[in-house]
Amino acid sequence: MASVYIETFGCQMNEADSRYIAERAVAAGYEIESDPTLASVVVLNTCTVRDNAERRAYGRMAHFKALKVADPSLKLVVCGCLAEQDRDRMQTTAPYVDAVFGTSELIRLGDALAEWRSAFEDPTDEASELRALVQPLGGAADCITDSFSHLRSFVTVQRGCSYYCTFCIVPHVRGRFDHRPIGEILAEARRAVAAGTRELTLVGQTVNAYRDPAGAADFADLLEAVAALEGLERLTFLTSHPKDFTPKLAQTLARLPALNPRLHLPVQSGSNPILRRMNRKYTVEQYEEKITFFREHCPAWVVTTDLIVGFPGESEADFEATLALAQRMRFAQAFMFVYSPRRGTPAALWEQIPAEVGSERLRRLADVVNAGMRRIHDTRVGTTVRALVQGPSRKDPSKLAAKTLENITLVVPNPGIEPSRLIAQPWLEARVDGAHVWGLTGMLLGVAEHFDGPSEPVAPPTLDLIAI
Ligand code: SAM
Ligand code: F3S
Repeated sequence: MASVYIETFGCQMNEADSRYIAERAVAAGYEIESDPTLASVVVLNTCTVRDNAERRAYGRMAHFKALKVADPSLKLVVCGCLAEQDRDRMQTTAPYVDAVFGTSELIRLGDALAEWRSAFEDPTDEASELRALVQPLGGAADCITDSFSHLRSFVTVQRGCSYYCTFCIVPHVRGRFDHRPIGEILAEARRAVAAGTRELTLVGQTVNAYRDPAGAADFADLLEAVAALEGLERLTFLTSHPKDFTPKLAQTLARLPALNPRLHLPVQSGSNPILRRMNRKYTVEQYEEKITFFREHCPAWVVTTDLIVGFPGESEADFEATLALAQRMRFAQAFMFVYSPRRGTPAALWEQIPAEVGSERLRRLADVVNAGMRRIHDTRVGTTVRALVQGPSRKDPSKLAAKTLENITLVVPNPGIEPSRLIAQPWLEARVDGAHVWGLTGMLLGVAEHFDGPSEPVAPPTLDLIAI
């Protein structure tokens, strides 16, 4: 059977786009493949937000070139932000790529898949049986074939971003805000819930700037409408901008029990001069005031963030202000980056901080953030949590990995529960007995079909006394 392998780099938007590509592929009669060497079409969905993402994408293209040499019938497709940015360059540096689709050409990509489908022969029954045997459950982490992925769905609420932070390539490769009509969003969310999604994530670069193009609904209204959908278990959203974080939104978050208690609100820096040069449109004091108001209304929620160090002009004092902010804010998680100059953005033209200063600051910041995360995780020891299964742990497949509502990783030994049962009963009920910087460990007590339904107890893993 013709099959498509999709590899995804980058943010939640690319993740959502890859899901769309997978849906179009399946509708056109392809299978989704987890091994690129077995695929008829390889799709590389790229990111260009930092230099290392760009280099990894070019590295993967070179890797897939070898597959194409071995099997010239394979089609290699590149899409996403790097495709948008380097389309012309790719035609000369990677002529072996069959097609390049920019960020606004997803529908064309889907059409191309449908067009190519008849060129791939269907296998004999025997060959497809063999293929079914080699298709593993689980699949690679950055490709979207695993048997648990339908438990989580991403619904795009807006494309692009109009804020033009001086470090960011997104508005240049994805264009300005383009908000989807609320009716379309609700219809897609309804379809996802009907297909068995347990956790729905509304995605956009700045979701809380959402405005229904045809009406008066803002993001708080959208959340309320989605949260009211019948059958929806959990709802979350990524990413918000501090500038658009309103008291109305904080009050709405407090009222909707279906929302996961995690607010991701990137602050980027703890220094006002740096925030100004980043064009972030808020001060540290305004950020803190918003978080204080939010915590008064949502005391059980955690706050997570993004931080950049080594931005052009960042002095030691600016950096120490970021360290101090990280200490004060008690972030439950922070994605930390060394500033990476992006062609075509204003900050790339400014005088740069030496790379070693940036990496040293990243290490110091990570120490502070990690210690804070560990303290938060420590408070969970001894509690019982419900977490949505992700599948076998990548490090140790005898264990199960899951995410709590706060997006904390939980790993528990699997007492022999079959994947089919986990798909039907994907909520793990676990007692937390260990805290680490990366997350929690514990003991599985039961599994539940619904987040707020009863759980069925599971037998603890038996100890091999002879081996001991
Ligand atoms: N829209 C989101 C916001 O309001 O912050 C984030 C979008 S961006 C894809 C995700 C994160 O990547 C940013 O929050 C920022 O911390 C980081 N980032 C973006 N451009 C960067 C650059 N040039 N160098 C380092 N980190 C960068
Ligand atoms: Fe980028 Fe700033 Fe928009 S980080 S995605 S330009 S809010």
